Amino acid sequence: MNRQKIIPAVIKQIEHPGTYVKIFTLLPKEPVFFVPGQFLMVSVFPEGEAAFTPCSCIKEDGSFEIAVNLVGRLTSTLHRMKTGDTVGIRGGYGNGFSIKKAINSSGIVIIAGGIGMAPLRFFIQELLQYDKRPPLTIIYSANKASKFLFLQDFERWQQQENLDIFLAALEVDTQEWKGHIGRSTDMIEKLKKIDENASFFVCGPPPMFPHVLEKLKQFPVNEKNIFFTLERNMRCGIGKCGHCYMGDIRLCVDGPVLSVSDIKKYHLAVFRETEPFMSRYRK
Ligand SMILES: Cc1cc2nc3c(=O)[nH]c(=O)nc-3n(C[C@H](O)[C@H](O)[C@H](O)COP(=O)(O)OP(=O)(O)OC[C@H]3O[C@@H](n4cnc5c(N)ncnc54)[C@H](O)[C@@H]3O)c2cc1C
Ligand code: FES
Repeated sequence: MNRQKIIPAVIKQIEHPGTYVKIFTLLPKEPVFFVPGQFLMVSVFPEGEAAFTPCSCIKEDGSFEIAVNLVGRLTSTLHRMKTGDTVGIRGGYGNGFSIKKAINSSGIVIIAGGIGMAPLRFFIQELLQYDKRPPLTIIYSANKASKFLFLQDFERWQQQENLDIFLAALEVDTQEWKGHIGRSTDMIEKLKKIDENASFFVCGPPPMFPHVLEKLKQFPVNEKNIFFTLERNMRCGIGKCGHCYMGDIRLCVDGPVLSVSDIKKYHLAVFRETEPFMSRYRK
């Protein structure tokens, strides 16, 4: 399969119209392949290309979903598109989350902030396919209760054994809210039975990263087992253009998922509070 070829994909369905984050179901005209945490370059005429991480597995008809946060030119054009319109896709690129690492660990903890839940939802879907998986804990936070994505999935997942879910909103702006009030870091304190073989997968706004890491230090965690999804503006996606350099590594091929031990080994400025806020998470 040629992963650099741009494949036309028809927009089959659009969920959450009128909100900042829309979920697009894309049906490519040729098969595509990607694993959870890998990204696709999506081209939208006439704006160009941008990276998006699929938020669902590939379904029987070949379609899959992406969650798109409206932040700038390309995402505004995409948000104006209708079902039946066509975009281009190429990929999947990058390393993605390691299912093997998660399944072989003593417990899996997923920590998502805002639209960071999108790639992790796909990862969770895959993990739930395993009959013998370790206990799974999902911590998901957002600024407002009305901004939570995939709540129907959470209602379904709640029925699963060996699965704990903590939803935390900083501000409650809907009457139906049944979760906690607070931040993801408050929920980390509720974790139980964490040993050094537990694995952690974190995706969310970069300002959240140092706080999450600090809170995890109260447990006997191994930094090789804590993974953060990092972000740079991608261009080629295949390690050629140098656009996504972070320190000495190219995030499109060496990332975007990196363990804390690798982040430290490469001296990446990830856990500094002064790191500029990435506006993918602005709204
Ligand atoms: C690996 C990867 C996966 C991604 N997955 C998703 C996803 O699933 N859903 C989603 O909504 N977005 C995702 N993004 C972010 C998405 O690619 C950008 O939001 C998109 O490029 C914005 O395009 P735009 O033309 O609308 O905004 P622009 O007009 O290009 O930018 C608007 C503002 O956002 C800044 N910006 C844009 N992209 C980035 C970035 N990647 N990092 C830091 N600042 C940025 C710009 O500098 C500018 O200030 C992902 C990015 C990466 C690198
Ligand atoms: S986006 Fe071109 S090298 Fe990474």
